Amino acid sequence: MDLAELNRVANAMVAPGRGVLAADESAGTVKKRFEAIGVESTEENRRDYRELLFRSKGMANISGVILFDETIRQNAKDGTPLARIIEQAGSLPGIKVDKGTKPLPFHPGEVITEGLDGLRERLVEYRGLGAKFCKWRAVIDIGPAIPTYYCIRANAAALARYAALCQDEGLVPIVEPEVLMDGDHDIDRCFAVTEKTLKTVFQELYLARVALEGMVLKPNMVVPGKKSPKQAPVGEVAEKTLRVLKECVPAAVPGIAFLSGGQSDLDATARLDAMNRLGGGPWKITFSYSRALQAAPQKAWSGKAENVAKAQAAFTHRAAMNGLASMGKWSADLEKQAA
Ligand code: 13P
Repeated sequence: MDLAELNRVANAMVAPGRGVLAADESAGTVKKRFEAIGVESTEENRRDYRELLFRSKGMANISGVILFDETIRQNAKDGTPLARIIEQAGSLPGIKVDKGTKPLPFHPGEVITEGLDGLRERLVEYRGLGAKFCKWRAVIDIGPAIPTYYCIRANAAALARYAALCQDEGLVPIVEPEVLMDGDHDIDRCFAVTEKTLKTVFQELYLARVALEGMVLKPNMVVPGKKSPKQAPVGEVAEKTLRVLKECVPAAVPGIAFLSGGQSDLDATARLDAMNRLGGGPWKITFSYSRALQAAPQKAWSGKAENVAKAQAAFTHRAAMNGLASMGKWSADLEKQAA
């Protein structure tokens, strides 16, 4: 394992002013997103949409792009591989390697992420297609009797096996244990579940001998459930998220890149900015957003070629705003000027 190279890539992924674009939506998820804007999910439409993102000026603020299996094999309209276009924009191509979730037996309401079988061989192939890093997402839901410790541990063990395999094949693992923000729980319950999840994940990473210097953590922010009557101000989310990270994430980890998880575009930006203003952590803190970067360009595009420039402008704006937030230099006024 070339740890210096893994560390170099991990640091590049969380460089100040930049963050990761998660463009690895599965076929099912793209279909849902496209339905919302009245676009049929054909291979060509998926290609055209992603090509417009990867060719936009907003890539200046994007350190890496997480691709789906189809996308890393796809060529742009002019025949250039999409992964090559990402590299030409000065960004790193990455790949989602988990195979999604399945119900966890005897654990109602809980899921386990699959995809370990044959993973080493797939990693070798993806490396050949240009991938420099990978992603695996574990999902932890909150309800009256969940999550169980068994669910957290089983998912953490899978994350650790995945991360070790990635590093052994020269790829930086994004380790993503997502505590969902569905439900009506309050922010302190999210704090407790996130704490237990992260403690367990880092214990399993240690047992699997994963080098923390060669990974990136992709956690949820500590937020109340979407249906909770008690929503939290930006400052409280930032303070509680930073606190749980300081308690759980070793200083050897180069960076933390948050998922957006269904927050509004502005919440995702404002909360990231607030954390970087508070500072005090040993790691870089940035974004690895899908929805909070793509909702605006998707709406602007709506599947029409004549809207490509408008969609690129919308993406460039969100990438720039989150780039500023990754340095604690965003302000709400900057959003108004653009509107
Ligand atoms: P969201 O930012 O939409 O949560 O997606 C990030 C991601 O990659 C989920 O795995």
